[in-house]
Amino acid sequence: MVDSSTSSRITRRDKEHFLHQHARSIWMTGLSGAGKTTLGLALEKKLFHLGFFIQLLDGDHVRTGLNKDLRFSDADRTENIRRIAEVNALYNHSGIITINCFISPTHAIRQMARATIGSADFIEVFIKAPLSVCEERDVKGYYRKARQGLIKEFTGVDSPFEEPEHPDLLIDTSFSSVDQCLHKMIGFILPKITITPVSQRVSQ
Ligand code: ADX
Repeated sequence: MVDSSTSSRITRRDKEHFLHQHARSIWMTGLSGAGKTTLGLALEKKLFHLGFFIQLLDGDHVRTGLNKDLRFSDADRTENIRRIAEVNALYNHSGIITINCFISPTHAIRQMARATIGSADFIEVFIKAPLSVCEERDVKGYYRKARQGLIKEFTGVDSPFEEPEHPDLLIDTSFSSVDQCLHKMIGFILPKITITPVSQRVSQ
């Protein structure tokens, strides 16, 4: 006898309800050093403590594994984001929220990500800081090396960054503290991922 419970598939909606959340891809774009990873980690921590289930994906990390065969030509950056967008679609289908920290430097690349993930699930956050500020921070020392010609095709130096014209959210990290930026992001993102009100979730 066939068990009728096996005849219908477990849907994305079932998984989202299991996790008490709407799966969305939070897509942070911006120059190297603008603050994507710092804010991504802070956002992940905050959302996790509010009871959400999240996976953070970061350029430096993904490029040592899944995308370690890729470099920084236009074609490789496009392939980098194409694969990451497909990974996002899989996570979202499992009901999982993702936070993405990738330069994703052009309108075309971000449009591809949006189309692959689906516009309804894609939240574009422009992490904005002037090139001069990112270069001043130079957390990884890459800008100095790029100016010396030791790193080629570095975004903002000899490879373009096209600023998003209509991001869902703009976070300017040159004027605000991490806490202020986080507060703004949480206020924008919470209503988009919440099924059960947060007040009920934390008391569960
Ligand atoms: S993207 O352009 O394809 O979206 P991604 O976000 O994955 O880039 O990787 C960017 C990270 O790679 C930077 O934060 C920096 O640490 C490192 N990196 C190394 N070389 C370059 C380069 N030529 N341009 C930009 N980032 C580089």
